[in-house]
Amino acid sequence: MTSWAWALLPVALGIINGPLTSVTQCGGATVPPNLALCLAGHARTFGDPRVVDGLLTNLVASFGANVTTFLYLKLHDHSTKGKDRLENLKLAVDMRVGDKHKEDVRRMAHRMPNVSGLALIEDDVVFRQPPCQKSREFRVDNKSGTAWRTEETWQMLVGQLYNQYWCGVSIEQYERDTGVKFDVVIKSRPDVTFAGPAPPYCAFDYDTKACTARDWLFMLPGSVAVKALKRGYEEFEMCRTIMNRNKTKIAEIIVRASGMGKELKEDMGRPDEACQKCKKGIICPLCRRKDTPLKLIRRPGVPSGSLPGILPRHCGF
Ligand SMILES: *[C@@H]1O[C@H](CO)[C@@H](O)[C@H](O)[C@H]1NC(C)=O
Ligand SMILES: *[C@@H]1O[C@H](CO)[C@@H](O)[C@H](O)[C@H]1NC(C)=O
Ligand SMILES: *[C@@H]1O[C@H](CO)[C@@H](O)[C@H](O)[C@H]1NC(C)=O
Ligand SMILES: *[C@@H]1O[C@H](CO)[C@@H](O)[C@H](O)[C@H]1NC(C)=O
Repeated sequence: MTSWAWALLPVALGIINGPLTSVTQCGGATVPPNLALCLAGHARTFGDPRVVDGLLTNLVASFGANVTTFLYLKLHDHSTKGKDRLENLKLAVDMRVGDKHKEDVRRMAHRMPNVSGLALIEDDVVFRQPPCQKSREFRVDNKSGTAWRTEETWQMLVGQLYNQYWCGVSIEQYERDTGVKFDVVIKSRPDVTFAGPAPPYCAFDYDTKACTARDWLFMLPGSVAVKALKRGYEEFEMCRTIMNRNKTKIAEIIVRASGMGKELKEDMGRPDEACQKCKKGIICPLCRRKDTPLKLIRRPGVPSGSLPGILPRHCGF
């Protein structure tokens, strides 16, 4: 699997396990923070009650914040993950969900606490290249031999930037309309399963630290979250991202190099140089930011992990 393929897995279902801790450890004196939880992307497994049970128990209840939920759920999936265009076309998932799944997703959406924004996207979302006169950055070249520059991959990446943007815009609008300020924002994929409890909010330095776990989960301080979430797509529209150059790692595109990373402070969302030399899942003494292994499964009902991943320790899970 190439270094960027992890974000292209069309039916990945992340399982996030965590330690057993409880909100009562935060003590009665502290006021729970206001948390905006935004789930945006392909709904995929979100219609399965186990996914929402996991969110309610292991994220909402465990973390213990005052939660407001925003949901941008795409009901069909055209993802690709080939190594070139031909393979993309061959492997392309064309999962148009039926009415039952649509209803399941809607029902599960309404089980989330304090739902303030809900968009169920039934139609194909197709992005257009902005008119970048001088820039070659968004040229799609189906013949280059790598999937990186194909139309299919391009649509998927811009789609991810847009998911984040939708969260940013929705949260910003909500804050403007209500006067509520969120202390912390969590953006997650809707197809991630929280299989173990998150530590309580007081275990996090959520005012000053961001944590980003690939494209699965971002936890952002409320002070920078809106700008960070909007940035990637804004830069795309302004022809400023490095998105279609070479085989840049997707994490750099989405999180660091062009999008959110510019908005987050020095130590936020950045890889710890020393960690990069360490092997995945192995505790590395040089690494200041310890990593914990994260498991992925491919489909609901498949219990065991099939792909190792890394979730930064400061994400706390
Ligand atoms: C939903 O909002 C209400 C009122 O703001 C709040 O009291 C409640 O704790 C919130 N629910 C959750 C699960 O955070
Ligand atoms: C909980 O969040 C809602 C906004 O979503 C807000 O109206 C309410 O005041 C918050 N509660 C507290 C105690 O801050
Ligand atoms: C690449 O393929 C897509 C999908 O068939 C097509 O719409 C697009 O025009 C092609 N781009 C180039 C540069 O050939
Ligand atoms: C792409 O990679 C080539 C070869 O490594 C390099 O020379 C070139 O500068 C890169 N282009 C961009 C836009 O980064």
